[in-house]
Amino acid sequence: MYIFHIRHLFLCVIFISITNINGDGVLYPAIFIPGNAGSQIWARLNRTTPTPHFFCTHHSDWFELWLDVRLLLPEIIDCFVDNMRLTYDPATKKTSNLEGIDTQIPGFGETSTIEHFDSSGFPYSTYFAPIIKSLVALGYKRGLNLRGAPYDFRRGLDEQDDFFTNFTQLVLDTYEQNNQTKIVLVTHSMGGPFALYWLHQQNRSFKEKYIRSMVNIATPWGGAVKALRLMASGDNIDIHGVSPIRIRPYQRSAPSTAFVMPSVNFWGEDETIVVSPKRNYTVNDFKEFFDDIEFPTGYEYWLNNKDLLQELTPPEVELHEIYSLQMPTPGVLLYNNRTFPDIQPVILPDDGDGTVNKRSLLGFKNWEGKQEQDILSLELVGVEHLAILRHPTTVNYVKQVVTGQFDQK
Ligand SMILES: *[C@@H]1O[C@H](CO)[C@@H](O)[C@H](O)[C@H]1NC(C)=O
Ligand SMILES: *[C@@H]1O[C@H](CO)[C@@H](O)[C@H](O)[C@H]1NC(C)=O
Ligand SMILES: *[C@@H]1O[C@H](CO)[C@@H](O)[C@H](O)[C@H]1NC(C)=O
Ligand SMILES: *[C@@H]1O[C@H](CO)[C@@H](O)[C@H](O)[C@H]1NC(C)=O
Ligand SMILES: *[C@@H]1O[C@H](CO)[C@@H](O)[C@H](O)[C@H]1NC(C)=O
Ligand SMILES: *[C@@H]1O[C@H](CO)[C@@H](O)[C@H](O)[C@H]1NC(C)=O
Repeated sequence: MYIFHIRHLFLCVIFISITNINGDGVLYPAIFIPGNAGSQIWARLNRTTPTPHFFCTHHSDWFELWLDVRLLLPEIIDCFVDNMRLTYDPATKKTSNLEGIDTQIPGFGETSTIEHFDSSGFPYSTYFAPIIKSLVALGYKRGLNLRGAPYDFRRGLDEQDDFFTNFTQLVLDTYEQNNQTKIVLVTHSMGGPFALYWLHQQNRSFKEKYIRSMVNIATPWGGAVKALRLMASGDNIDIHGVSPIRIRPYQRSAPSTAFVMPSVNFWGEDETIVVSPKRNYTVNDFKEFFDDIEFPTGYEYWLNNKDLLQELTPPEVELHEIYSLQMPTPGVLLYNNRTFPDIQPVILPDDGDGTVNKRSLLGFKNWEGKQEQDILSLELVGVEHLAILRHPTTVNYVKQVVTGQFDQK
């Protein structure tokens, strides 16, 4: 704890001294890549198959499926879950919406759908809004040098080719529209691994030309044990009075849940992460884990994604890593005969930000000494995975990066 405070203080000192010598007023364009659940999904319905309630069936106009808080009311939440759910075709290895459901991810290139989870403006649905507002106050313009890259967060890396094609075009357009100024990528949570994957596809001259740096906030570089709890027992996404088991069908059906499972590069083969009456599971036992929770498709999802991200290969751009520790975070899930897998486990806590384990947040340290570009980090204490996006220290740090306070003079 002592070290955290010293490091924090040290960074503050650097901010002040650099701020004083730099006054050329550069505004690097910023592109924001949200995490799991951080994009809006709109839907329209014309369902003929049986649904949990008759009023889940028809809705010919586009409406906000993710997220409209009214859809999370206990009486109709089963509708919401059923409409969010994906089905999997083992032959094509692709997911799709259930029959009669059309979805779109609105707002690509804009910030409107990533500033808040839903458009009602409730304070709890705040996402990138505090960072974006603080940049607008500096003279930034939404849609010009503040761009969002929302995507269908239900899907894993294996089904995002169109998104990445569009993302490359967004980078090129943003660069040209801003007088050929290099771009800062700003990611939260799962947006970090997505951006890393994309950077790995780009060559060195492309990255040098277009990317100034990348800011990663609360990133699961090696996954999180929490994903296994979602797969086994679900999570009620903090909706009071709703059983996690009612949300689980959606959470299981989303390949992105499998994508953020603990990585074999970050957890040892002798480390038990799930204890059940019948057996214990390590990162080498996912086949048995999914068989035992009677969701073998989850193993397919994991197989489809496990080799796509090279977590140990550096991105080769300047990095700024912002994360928090010292929040109780799922470390080991303990089940007994009664609870496995349908009732919430007892959780042995690990260090982390409440969602992502410490080792995963610190995954960028594997790149130290392996890339020429600087790797800087800012460690906070006791700030939760989502709350870190509106923490003043985070907002201030992003402001410093995009206004060139880290540029060499
Ligand atoms: C809804 O589906 C039915 C049956 O497939 C079809 O006849 C009808 O035209 C569809 N309605 C709309 C608005 O697409
Ligand atoms: C990519 O862009 C095309 C053209 O604008 C659009 O039709 C498509 O829906 C986008 N796909 C994704 C996954 O963002
Ligand atoms: C674009 O960049 C050039 C070279 O740095 C500069 O001279 C010019 O003023 C810039 N134009 C605008 C509109 O910012
Ligand atoms: C790097 O990638 C860009 C865009 O994909 C391509 O146009 C360029 O030729 C590549 N450069 C080298 C040196 O391979
Ligand atoms: C699972 O691990 C727990 C805790 O380490 C241990 O007590 C138990 O014996 C193990 N169970 C099995 C079936 O190996
Ligand atoms: C729990 O389940 C295991 C395996 O099915 C069984 O061997 C054991 O006796 C059960 N324990 C209790 C306390 O029911």
